[in-house]
Amino acid sequence: MCGIIGYVGPRKVVPVILGGLHKLEYRGYDSAGMAILEKGEVVVVKRRGKLKELEEAVTGIDYTATTGMGHTRWATHGKVEDRNAHPHVDCKGQLAVIHNGIIENYEALRQDLVKRGHVFVSDTDSEVIAHLMEDQVAAGADLLDAARVTALQLDGAFAFLVLGKAFPGRIVAVRKLSPLVLGVGEGEMVLGSDTPALLDYTHRIIPLHDGDVVEINEQGFAFYALDDGARLERAPMMVQWNASAAEKQGFKHFMLKEIHEQPVVIRDTLYSRIDIDTGHVDLQEFQGEAVPKRVSIVAAGTSYHAARVGKYLLEELARIPTDVSFSSEYRYGRPIVQPGTLGIAVTQSGETIDTLAALRLQRSLGAKVVAITNRPESTVARESEISFVTQAGIEIGVAATKSFMAQLIAFYLIALYFGQRNGVLDSDSSVRYASQLSSLSQKCEQVLEYAGMMETIARKFYKVHDMIYVGRGVNYPMALEGALKMKEISYIHAEGYAAGELKHGPIALLDQDVPVVGILPQGPLYEKVYSNLQESIARDSPLVVLGDKKDRRAQAIATDFIPMPTVDELFSPVVCALPLQLLAYYTADAKGLDVDQPRNLAKSVTVE
Ligand code: M6R
Repeated sequence: MCGIIGYVGPRKVVPVILGGLHKLEYRGYDSAGMAILEKGEVVVVKRRGKLKELEEAVTGIDYTATTGMGHTRWATHGKVEDRNAHPHVDCKGQLAVIHNGIIENYEALRQDLVKRGHVFVSDTDSEVIAHLMEDQVAAGADLLDAARVTALQLDGAFAFLVLGKAFPGRIVAVRKLSPLVLGVGEGEMVLGSDTPALLDYTHRIIPLHDGDVVEINEQGFAFYALDDGARLERAPMMVQWNASAAEKQGFKHFMLKEIHEQPVVIRDTLYSRIDIDTGHVDLQEFQGEAVPKRVSIVAAGTSYHAARVGKYLLEELARIPTDVSFSSEYRYGRPIVQPGTLGIAVTQSGETIDTLAALRLQRSLGAKVVAITNRPESTVARESEISFVTQAGIEIGVAATKSFMAQLIAFYLIALYFGQRNGVLDSDSSVRYASQLSSLSQKCEQVLEYAGMMETIARKFYKVHDMIYVGRGVNYPMALEGALKMKEISYIHAEGYAAGELKHGPIALLDQDVPVVGILPQGPLYEKVYSNLQESIARDSPLVVLGDKKDRRAQAIATDFIPMPTVDELFSPVVCALPLQLLAYYTADAKGLDVDQPRNLAKSVTVE
């Protein structure tokens, strides 16, 4: 959480910082600030609220600085106030620091610093870094050593950047657990929490490893080890992403654009991995690997819902026993990893700290570990033995949509691949499934044509306080995901239930003010779900049904019916994902909410 950017080079730095913060604002948007080296002084400007407050504060001032850094905050310690915004400075205002993460021992450090005469102005954990730096510099340390020795005193997770009046043209950064990426340009260096912030300057990047210290200056960059200061070699890698992918391209919000990109995401994720004629799935990632005896998946949020669909697919198509855990629970439990277990960490960002910790635990318990991630350069990808890289492209909307779709497709491919390899699937069923999978992109295009219908339904219900989503089997996780999308961007209390569980308690919530969204594909569970939906009609709930376009019975009972293309039940989560996302989107939009930056959330959760 929090986005940080630093720049050293020939350009005026204020527009560079503001541009970078725009690309990082999805990481946190409680407040924003910058520190620049302007005419030999450290100048700090910071404001609570969205980035535009900071922009307004610097508008009309012709800063000439070419070294500086900026921060967009997701509050952990200290309320959302100007004084708690980053950067933080030392007592003399000559050193500035920006920080992403949590300093767990900050209270003890702060007490000690106060005893020694340091004056604190914020309630944050981060400010201790500036004062610890001050002591180091006062004792004669250079910026690099001061940052390194300071970092060694900190417990917790952090990526921080420092600059100082006495150190022109230089920024030092340290990383432990929280993500940080260096962009290596021609005569300019840029540091950021995430790759999109760097792409206007360079496509050559170096993700910092845990325990890396890096100095950037006009000559270039140099890496050092946090523990002993030894020089490290780190080579840049090329990223192919286009900076314009991080633009809205005419859509009102990033989320809407990303929902509409899903047919292409499906095609890109399937590309060259499946042969429609033979049904054969070829996953280079798993070449030479034995088919696992068990699969154990860890994930959070929307990725967890994709994993729940994945469990269903792995058990159905490959008959591999699969368990799924919230990363945040798994990491503090005492999981049992049996021989032959494949661990799978599902994470769009590849930086979710709980998922990273769960993956490390899986590895330490003897599992081979696969990352299903959208970010090949991420920490989770680097720490996994195998990376399955989804092809969703940059996702900016805080609510995950196209990355979820890519994760679903990854699970279809992996389940089919293992099912073919262990002989569960014969060639006929392989061809049938491959053909279904390959048709999904086009079917999703058809579903997107109903966007107007979803908007109409959203405008009918956007004032309700509660909603219930139900599905069964492979669509139970879709009910969870539909409800999560609704609550995170529209702030309507929404819960997903296995349809058969409704009668065991949640049915008590139903009345004419609580709409039920039912996922009702054709298939073996149809009659069961249909009966469950009848139960909610009997309690006067308005009923929104996602059903096969030819399903007259469902049309007859639904208050609003969303016609879905005909698809095998096993593949219905893919086509159902879009209307669920659109319903949440249009509901939030009807309420006039900030769809791309919902309150209290951040795109990448790098704190516990
Ligand atoms: O980057 P990850 O996939 O690990 O993120 C996991 C969750 O934080 C994320 O899915 C979150 O729930 C989104 N806001 C969902 O829209």
